[in-house]
Amino acid sequence: MSLIRLDHLEKYYNKGKETQVHALKGVSLEIESGEMVALMGVSGSGKSTLLHILGFLDSFDGGRYDFEGAGTSSLKAEELARLRNEKIGFVMQNFGLILHQNALQNVSLPLLLNKKTKYARIRPRALRLLQDLGIGEKADVPVDQLSGGQQQRVAIARAIANKPKLLLADEPTGALDSQTAEEVMQIFHRLNEEKGMTVILATHDPRIAAECSRILYLEDGRINETQ
Ligand SMILES: Nc1ncnc2c1ncn2[C@@H]1O[C@H](COP(=O)(O)OP(=O)(O)O)[C@@H](O)[C@H]1O
Ligand SMILES: [Mg+2]
Repeated sequence: MSLIRLDHLEKYYNKGKETQVHALKGVSLEIESGEMVALMGVSGSGKSTLLHILGFLDSFDGGRYDFEGAGTSSLKAEELARLRNEKIGFVMQNFGLILHQNALQNVSLPLLLNKKTKYARIRPRALRLLQDLGIGEKADVPVDQLSGGQQQRVAIARAIANKPKLLLADEPTGALDSQTAEEVMQIFHRLNEEKGMTVILATHDPRIAAECSRILYLEDGRINETQ
């Protein structure tokens, strides 16, 4: 059973309007548990759209999306929210952090939302995650006072707080210098190899893509694996 199976997935923005965009055009693919996949393509090719649909952050207009062998179309909003909180970590483009809050508060948020972690365990667990990512000493610093690389580490700590099976990252190294980008890639490798997380990251950097075990190319809303 594949972790992810897409069958002729279609996505439109502004459907039926003059401004309609056909963003995904019959995307079919399978991703197995434990893979590390790069999603490559130029700006506007549909990378973010695909990642958002995979992470249940956006809906689709046709085709099928099976997650862990089960269809997702009939799931209600709250079921999708639970699946997202329990099984999926999302590292947003530009980090998506709450800037006036400190690193610890940002990482605590998904732990507060899951209702499973005892309240007293949240702070130590968030601190441990920050320590694992090498920024434990920044726990009390508002994230808008951290460097890009440090903010990216906070964003990754937040994304993996609930030990997701699937980690999605939208151009996670796009805003970083090459050395910091390489450090962040090492974190993704570690999560993939040691924790067995399936990682899918969007990038337009061929050097970053070459570090992944598989590359999917998106071209104008279509997938091509053999470029
Ligand atoms: N919210 C939106 N409303 C309308 N069009 C959008 C929206 N988001 C993305 N698009 C369009 O969908 C296409 C794919 O965009 P996107 O998935 O963001 O590509 P990428 O991440 O590869 O740059 C582009 O033509 C883009 O302009
Ligand atoms: Mg994008």
